[in-house]
Amino acid sequence: MEFIIAEDYEGMSRAAADVVAGVMADDPSCVLGLATGSTPIGMYACLADDCAQGKISFKDVTTFNLDEYVGLPGTHDQSYRYFMDENLFNKVDVNKTSTHLPDGCAGNLDQMCAEYEAQIQQAGGVDIQVLGIGHNGHIGFNEPCEDFPVATHPVDLTESTINANSRLFDDVADVPRRAVTMGIGTIMKAHKVLVVANGSGKAAIVKEAFTGPVVPSVPASVLQLHPDVTIVLDSEAASELELM
Ligand code: F6R
Repeated sequence: MEFIIAEDYEGMSRAAADVVAGVMADDPSCVLGLATGSTPIGMYACLADDCAQGKISFKDVTTFNLDEYVGLPGTHDQSYRYFMDENLFNKVDVNKTSTHLPDGCAGNLDQMCAEYEAQIQQAGGVDIQVLGIGHNGHIGFNEPCEDFPVATHPVDLTESTINANSRLFDDVADVPRRAVTMGIGTIMKAHKVLVVANGSGKAAIVKEAFTGPVVPSVPASVLQLHPDVTIVLDSEAASELELM
């Protein structure tokens, strides 16, 4: 695991964008695995700037997002499709038909999940998977559990995740109770993984996940077993790490 520690959120965002831009420079038709959440918003803004300046192009890029709520159409402002359109896709030269999120409105979610896995494989696998990390160590919607879930699958959200996400909805009753997420196995198959985290609230879980034991009760800890992981932090999120 390689750690990059930036001073602040802007520095973290720029450093993370540089890692993604590097993969895009090496292979302009690469496959990006993308995440939503507050943390990567600055990174997406940097990538959009790079694209506007002609430094990178998404023209031949394919994307697969980690997760989506069940029951929210892409037009809903809290759907992850809407988030991606607003924060990245509408600002760059990506071909929208090459951008993929799990379809949380599919009639048969299990079938949709199997097809999503197949689509990723048909695209040649994910070249770089961007991840944020939850306060409980979740990645995607893979919450602490007894076994690492392997493939893309529907999940019932925990009360703590529903409550955390309710800040973005008018009422906690409006927060979807279910989601679809890539599994830990899907994430581990990515050729490269990029984790971003900022703020003092993430310091304890960053330390636990990346320097503690590999256990499914801390889903992100499994990344210690991946051969190519870059973790980009701001100084607050890195504050509990004792790095050489
Ligand atoms: C987002 C996702 C989540 C977030 C995590 C951190 O697609 O799958 O696992 O990455 O909850 O969220 P933020 O960045 O809002 O702290």
